[in-house]
Amino acid sequence: MTSQKTILRALAGETLPTPPIWMMRQAGRYLPEYRATRAKAGDFLSLCYNPELASEVTLQPIRRYGFDASILFADILLVPQALGADLWFVTGEGPRLSTITSQAELDALKPADDIHEHLAPVYETVGILAKELPDETTLIGFAGAPWTVATYMIAGKGTPDQGPAHGLKADNRTVFDGLMERITEATITYLNAQIEAGAEVVKLFDSWAGSLQGADFERYSIAPMREIVRGVKAVNPNTPIIAFPRGAGERYKGIHAAIGADCIAFDDGVSAEWVAENLQPDGCVQGNLASSHMVTGGDALVSETRRIVDALSNGPHIFNLGHGITPDADPANVQLMIDTVRGK
Ligand code: CP3
Repeated sequence: MTSQKTILRALAGETLPTPPIWMMRQAGRYLPEYRATRAKAGDFLSLCYNPELASEVTLQPIRRYGFDASILFADILLVPQALGADLWFVTGEGPRLSTITSQAELDALKPADDIHEHLAPVYETVGILAKELPDETTLIGFAGAPWTVATYMIAGKGTPDQGPAHGLKADNRTVFDGLMERITEATITYLNAQIEAGAEVVKLFDSWAGSLQGADFERYSIAPMREIVRGVKAVNPNTPIIAFPRGAGERYKGIHAAIGADCIAFDDGVSAEWVAENLQPDGCVQGNLASSHMVTGGDALVSETRRIVDALSNGPHIFNLGHGITPDADPANVQLMIDTVRGK
């Protein structure tokens, strides 16, 4: 029975004696077995589009640690690529894309409904995982939120301040809004296809939400995520949705209802105590250990982990990091965190 899965119970609003646990970027370069499979695939994108190897790396942290959830191995930038953008990864630097800054470039993108042929290997990975995962492990699918995806499509790479996207928003609102709309539509159809293939929960990553100021935060982070939640729930009303508007700070307050999400993931910019008071009364929360503890370990890892678990023990909580684990993390520290959460 899926309702016995701890992650699904927490997402439904249940307060559990021990919070279920998973970790952003749990399949990644800090694991030697990931590096070996990635070398076999050749490069990161070939790994994402190889269902056999992508499902293998998704399963690796489940086998090693027994996390309560598994997250599909893919990337938020596969959607721009499916829409027709060029995408490649430069080792040691990160993603590169062909840019969208004009009406002509926007018009040259594919319609949102045409992404499925390109993304078929991702759906196949989801299908393999739905079969292979242990009964108690929840399968999470995901996509980037429109603002975050747009920042990469406009700049053609990651940027420290999302300057090019803010620039296009100021200089050519028509193109900017058209791009946001295209990404929003594609994301709805993409997430619904992941659910059809076997994803039990979906998560929206708005990694750069924090750089939206004033009315832009509601208009370009919250409203597009609300539209996606509506579009997914219209087809899959029973699939829980986690939203991660990273860096929202005090704007996290009231955000469950604003987005319509079942769970809000929060970064380490707000304290678990603040979240217990201001956010958790509205529904499940997920977070927020600083990922640097996975590098440094020791007593500080243990005491911070305990503090977060205690602070959020009176409501629905999924334990996670505040952001993805980094390649320099020590796999032994991940085990120490899990043992601490589970009281071992
Ligand atoms: O969490 C997981 O384990 C699932 C897989 C996953 C990846 N990326 C794999 C990945 C997920 C959910 C993502 C999301 C993602 N991708 C985000 C949103 C979350 C966040 O971290 O803020 C963003 C902004 C991206 C775009 C992206 N992908 C960047 C900027 C980079 C380069 C940075 C880096 O860490 O190298 C990637 C590459 C990437 N995506 C890796 C992994 C495991 C590293 C690739 C490698 O093996 O070299």
